[in-house]
Amino acid sequence: EQIEKGGYEHFMLKEIYEQPRAIQDTYRGRLLRDEAIIKMAGVEDNMKKFLNADRIIIVACGTSWHAGLVAEYIFEEFSRIPVEVEYASEFRYRNPIITEKDIVIAISQSGETADTLAAVKLAKEKGAFVFGVCNVVGSSIARETHAGAYTHAGPEIGVASTKAFTTQITVLSLMALRLARAKGTMSSSVFRMYLQELELIPQKVEQLLSVNEHVKEISKKYLLSTNCLYLGRGYNFPVALEGALKLKEISYIHAEGYPAAEMKHGPIALIDDRMPVIVIATSKGHYEKVVSNIQEIKSRKGKIIAIVTEGDTTVKEIADHVIEIPDSEEAFSPLLTTIPLQLLSYHIAVMRNCNVDQPRNLAKSVTVE
Ligand code: G6P
Repeated sequence: EQIEKGGYEHFMLKEIYEQPRAIQDTYRGRLLRDEAIIKMAGVEDNMKKFLNADRIIIVACGTSWHAGLVAEYIFEEFSRIPVEVEYASEFRYRNPIITEKDIVIAISQSGETADTLAAVKLAKEKGAFVFGVCNVVGSSIARETHAGAYTHAGPEIGVASTKAFTTQITVLSLMALRLARAKGTMSSSVFRMYLQELELIPQKVEQLLSVNEHVKEISKKYLLSTNCLYLGRGYNFPVALEGALKLKEISYIHAEGYPAAEMKHGPIALIDDRMPVIVIATSKGHYEKVVSNIQEIKSRKGKIIAIVTEGDTTVKEIADHVIEIPDSEEAFSPLLTTIPLQLLSYHIAVMRNCNVDQPRNLAKSVTVE
């Protein structure tokens, strides 16, 4: 096992560090920048279906559901297709309205999650075209779906999902870009710009991983917290949910993710000097509005850990801690903002002596209901 961990203390840390490579492996052979095209066999072979689709319904569980939420923003923005994101467990039991003009995308790292598999079967019965985004090759969901695209993340051993999440977002971004070109909802110059941006992500993640020690220092201050709030907006709202889930899963600290603007409708009542609030405040994502949320937290004495774009000066003056991420197009920022949140949960959990790779009561793949 020590050999498999490749010198890292835990699989989770190894998998966090594998992300630059995993993201690259996921777009390799698909993103052809010189030719300015995206090639994905599963999409290409079924292009007619995608072009005729009235909407996309994404079904998934856990972290994969969060990747689906990020994809909702990306698909709608890039390809102008209405997207609904559903918990597979809810979808399968509520007699959903599905037609032959719907495309159902099932996202699952393992490809074995019972609820997601059941949702796939139901969607097929109702005549939808079902597309799988799985990591495990030959898994049940990969086999049950009409077509699909694998994330090439490599085996993920840590129960808390890390590189599966970022590679799912990568595959779904490629799909959204491909469809945007096919539908004509994105100009070729903007398309080229996004291809270039996506290709830069692995090296930005690599650079970002150097915040590890800084995040570890911050973690020391919060390891005894009992509650934690995560806020983000737009593309980074699902990242706030994922950050909170990660902390819950491995450190057993109660955490909630919220869209930043919803804070005033509830969570603000919880804020006092013992409440750490992690805020994603990237420069291109509704920045001013998030800054005013940060001020509201500050005036209630909440402790602020802000994820900001490098070079930020405004938030630095207000927040207790800032973690800088490289600049990028906002749509791809979840691939960056997620990384420090993974590290934060990891360090807090290690310092609390939790079993990071195998947290209590959780399973890597939930094959029963
Ligand atoms: C379990 C795992 C999570 C995962 C979820 C969905 O709860 O602990 O990490 O996100 O299942 O798994 P899937 O394999 O379908 O992505």
